Amino acid sequence: SETESTAGRMSRRGFIGAGAALGAGLCMPSWSWAGTQSVAGIGGTTPPWLAWDDEADPVVAALIDSGEVPAVNALLRGWTRNGQALPPGLPAYLHQFIERARQLPAWADTSQLKLAVEFNKKRGTYLGVAYGFVSGMMSTVIPHEARAVYYSKGGADMKRRISRTAKFGYDIGSLGGFHDPNGEMIVTSVKTRLAHAGVRHLLPQSPHWRGDADQPKPISQRDILVTWHSLPTSVMRSLRKWGVKVPAAEADAFLHSWQIAAHMLGVRDEYIPATWAAADAQAPEILDPVLAPTPEGVKLAQMLLDLAAEVDGGAFSRPLLESLTRYFLGDQIAGWLDIPRHPGQDQMLAVAWPYFVRMKEAGLYIPGSNSFYWAFDEILRQGAMWYLGEGQPLNIEIPYFNNPN
Ligand code: HEM
Repeated sequence: SETESTAGRMSRRGFIGAGAALGAGLCMPSWSWAGTQSVAGIGGTTPPWLAWDDEADPVVAALIDSGEVPAVNALLRGWTRNGQALPPGLPAYLHQFIERARQLPAWADTSQLKLAVEFNKKRGTYLGVAYGFVSGMMSTVIPHEARAVYYSKGGADMKRRISRTAKFGYDIGSLGGFHDPNGEMIVTSVKTRLAHAGVRHLLPQSPHWRGDADQPKPISQRDILVTWHSLPTSVMRSLRKWGVKVPAAEADAFLHSWQIAAHMLGVRDEYIPATWAAADAQAPEILDPVLAPTPEGVKLAQMLLDLAAEVDGGAFSRPLLESLTRYFLGDQIAGWLDIPRHPGQDQMLAVAWPYFVRMKEAGLYIPGSNSFYWAFDEILRQGAMWYLGEGQPLNIEIPYFNNPN
């Protein structure tokens, strides 16, 4: 339409202008990924780093400015189930927004969503480790995310703060998913969408916030897509690398649950990959090139390793976690995060982990047969559970102030 093409031209011009103003030195992302590969089957001309959340952002900005956030958070605390009615007493504009935002898209496929939950049950332990250690650690080398998390409200609960995206992923499988009226993922997603809108409003007011042409406002659609790829795309890459066999139907169902998650978090359908091939084509364009160390991310990663090592002095020794991180994320990222090398152990682990997984898969592994593998068993058994607080839903609230420190 006329308006769309005008908007497209304008944003394109704005983008080129911003890029030119920056001059050399900053690597601007490219967006050649075709919208025909998206769940919408068609794409506009706006690149995802120039899109935020047109519906949620004004709603939450008004809410924060009205001073009603604490009361609204208190009201929404009891709203947890997909099929549950909203509590009375919410401001009308918020009530209306949530009623719209909680609708699944027309392309949601219940049978796929059910299969995704089955897949999560069947593969829960590997998924927990992949979400926890791969996605969770990776979030510390996603600069926009690491900085946003570091300087936003978060509170004193560092573990919860660091692990929130990983836990969101794990909960898709453990909290009844999106399709079941008793499930919790619709509510979790809508609340997360509101929290992100709050961060967009608040973070630019923090003295630590560094906006630039690359990121005039926090948590763009591109940022969400980047984090999205650190979740299902990276998890699937890891399962394959470890030798876990995933039938195509289960892989597709898993992807579908994440397509729905993206939609419910406010990502436009034109950016959501329709297939694994489309996702695998998008990730190298937007995830891989943005990974980089930041002082904030390095601090978050060090805290993560300390927290995990605190749980159990035996299985979760810090050097073992360091070697696992190096194997899971590779030498470059380990170097960025100041993770020391452990000669011998690093090499042994890179061989032993996939071997352990394959033996377990084939039913040939004998529990307790070897102390090294015992540690792996412990990591599967309680690592993910501790890290992801299994069974304990996140109590997601709309922030109304930044990290005061
Ligand atoms: C809050 C998940 C993308 C920054 C949250 C929360 C969840 C979540 C579950 C609520 C946590 C809580 O209240 O404890 C996700 C998922 C994402 C995503 C699943 C993508 C698929 C991003 C991105 C950024 C970001 C791209 C930044 C660039 C934040 C911040 C908060 C937050 C700053 C608020 C934390 C606080 O209260 O301090 N997110 N997120 N998220 N997210 Fe995201």
